[in-house]
Amino acid sequence: MNKNAHRNAEDSRSRRAMVGGKLSFSASEAYKLLRTNVMFSLAEDEDGSRIFGITSPIKGEGKSTTAINLAYSIAESAKRVLFIEMDMRLPVLHKSLPISKAPGLSDLLVGSALLTDALQKSGIHDDLYVITAGNLPPNPSELLGSERMKALLESFRERFDYILCDLPPITVVSDALMISPMLSGMIVVVRKNYTDMRALDVTMRQLEFTQVKVLGFVMTFDDSGETGAKRYRYGSKYGYKYSYRYDYGYYAAAEKRRREEDRRKNSSKTSPARENPEQKP
Ligand SMILES: Nc1ncnc2c1ncn2[C@@H]1O[C@H](COP(=O)(O)OP(=O)(O)O)[C@@H](O)[C@H]1O
Ligand SMILES: [Mg+2]
Repeated sequence: MNKNAHRNAEDSRSRRAMVGGKLSFSASEAYKLLRTNVMFSLAEDEDGSRIFGITSPIKGEGKSTTAINLAYSIAESAKRVLFIEMDMRLPVLHKSLPISKAPGLSDLLVGSALLTDALQKSGIHDDLYVITAGNLPPNPSELLGSERMKALLESFRERFDYILCDLPPITVVSDALMISPMLSGMIVVVRKNYTDMRALDVTMRQLEFTQVKVLGFVMTFDDSGETGAKRYRYGSKYGYKYSYRYDYGYYAAAEKRRREEDRRKNSSKTSPARENPEQKP
């Protein structure tokens, strides 16, 4: 068994203990920090609910775990949250929560299920609802990029404050890229001593191409904390504005270009009364 396969086997044994209220104090504190960063990252973007995607370069980096725990943490702050499992090739949500595996998103998208059947209570928090990936479809990326998907997200916006989309890895399939344009922002997960730099590089280039706003990074499996919390150090390395310690200058440059462009667009739209950004409307 190679090193990563061995790690994945070990990981699946620990899956159940990793969700919601069962986390250690330091793990849930780290998620709260991540929640705060994420909730403030789009403070100016208020129209309907916010739709976040969570992705990473490859499998096994902690996307789904980060996504469901972030969803739980946001629900804890009295917001209504919908978690959508969008990894239709490797669904795992039903293993962590007391829910049915199907019907789910794929069934909604092909029209073989009703929302009332696919939308489930998470069973771990009253304000957290989930939609599983559903029955495995032959064409996940087509489904995720469809007009029907867009319409579904729009309809959820009226009912939820936050929608979290747990996506498949970027370098393996195109599914996450298909949905990127529909998201308010993307969170990228990297796993310490595991995520390959070249794969991360490809990931960032692909995301840049879709123009989704990358809100920041979460480093998982970081046991460097002084609290002794060992493996459960989520979010502590979360940083926006690309403060992540890997060096990828091209990305920072692209981001700068994008910000300048945004600033130009905004200043041409801004009315004289709002020219001073400090000034409230
Ligand atoms: N921060 C973490 N610390 C320790 N184990 C984790 C962490 N995040 C995820 N895991 C474990 O790693 C495995 C893979 O996580 P998962 O969230 O399914 O990854 P992905 O969705 O990226 O494939 C799971 O068994 C999960 O319990
Ligand atoms: Mg996953």
